[in-house]
Amino acid sequence: MTLAAVRAKQSMESRIAVVPKVVSSLVKTGLEVIIETNAGQQAGISDDAFIEAGAKVVTQEEAWNSDILALVMPPSDEEIDSIKSHSVVVGLLHPLDAPQRMSHLANRGVTALAMELVPRISRAQKMDALSAMASLAGYKAVLIAASHLPKFFPLLTTAAGTVRPANVTILGAGVAGLQAIATARRLGARVWGYDIREAAREEVKSLGAQFVELDLEIEDMQDEGGYAKALMDAKAEKQVELLVPHLATSDVVITTALIPGRKAPTLVSQEAVEAMKPGSIIVDLAATTGGNCTLTVPDQVQTHQGVRIFGPTNLPATVPADASFLYARTVAAMISEFVKDGEFKSNFEDEIFKSACVCHDGQVVHERVLSLIKSTSP
Ligand code: NAI
Repeated sequence: MTLAAVRAKQSMESRIAVVPKVVSSLVKTGLEVIIETNAGQQAGISDDAFIEAGAKVVTQEEAWNSDILALVMPPSDEEIDSIKSHSVVVGLLHPLDAPQRMSHLANRGVTALAMELVPRISRAQKMDALSAMASLAGYKAVLIAASHLPKFFPLLTTAAGTVRPANVTILGAGVAGLQAIATARRLGARVWGYDIREAAREEVKSLGAQFVELDLEIEDMQDEGGYAKALMDAKAEKQVELLVPHLATSDVVITTALIPGRKAPTLVSQEAVEAMKPGSIIVDLAATTGGNCTLTVPDQVQTHQGVRIFGPTNLPATVPADASFLYARTVAAMISEFVKDGEFKSNFEDEIFKSACVCHDGQVVHERVLSLIKSTSP
């Protein structure tokens, strides 16, 4: 069987799902690895580097016609039509954000494995693409804030005087949030972290940040999968209100709060933005799923009373070399798990396969995706 990595036809995506360092492990499973010509260019990988690693460089048409297609982003409707029918597609397919597109993929007869549905179990850690990408996003969010803030992050003593360190608050202390805390600390800011999961408190403190204490009684908000549960409406409103005084003293706010499969919880209201000092920066990593700040617009910078609100939706693509390397490792781990002697074998007895498989045999087979399709059908 062939396994291909392609260059997205329409989007501005700069990452690639296979890098030379994973080619040999894929070839060992019996697959022939093919790469669309120039697909690694934006990640700084030449066609020659792929050839040296044991892959074959092919035309766009040949690559899309592969038996297994490794993607970074979900294919557009036009791209779905160029996928070989009954092939296997592996990638960040956004099944919960764009469930209707999964029906289109199913109509093509493909077996689709969504990297974002890989369960958080120890055997699947090496396939955890979301965490790898979130970590890069948390790091990059801090750099965006630091480069736009009209202040230094660290305390700085000069002959002309001393400047105080910036106050940085990170809302949501999961993967992206903890990386943002660590990065802001490394840059010398005074950092606060906040989360609704009790387990996050110690993690925030272990990175040298302070925990934002709110007078809000909440039971343990962690589900069995390690993800957060949504707050009830009244508590969610109270939380937004209680955060205002803390946010008012922050120079930078980075928001990363997520409840899987739901609209991002609102944490920063217009009132909170108006309470912040002009020049302050908000970077909202949840922009794709509705934003944690009510004023966020995806992929735009909004200025409200002097506060700038950034809503970047694809920060990993701004570090395409490392993002491709990390992502390709997770994809190779996933593919290697289900390929034996060069043949891909679907296995619904396997917890990872069952959780990640969205489409198979012409049907959408993932229950959560199916119910989303039903609820969003006209
Ligand atoms: P995660 O699940 O590891 O962390 C999310 C955290 O938010 C959890 O710790 C959870 O307890 C917390 N949370 C949920 N509701 C909350 C509330 N009401 N108040 C405070 N905390 C709350 O998720 P991860 O992987 O860190 O991703 C975070 C966000 O970053 C997601 O929205 C994800 O889509 C986004 N992301 C954005 C990228 C970009 O380029 N913009 C790239 C990668 C991820």
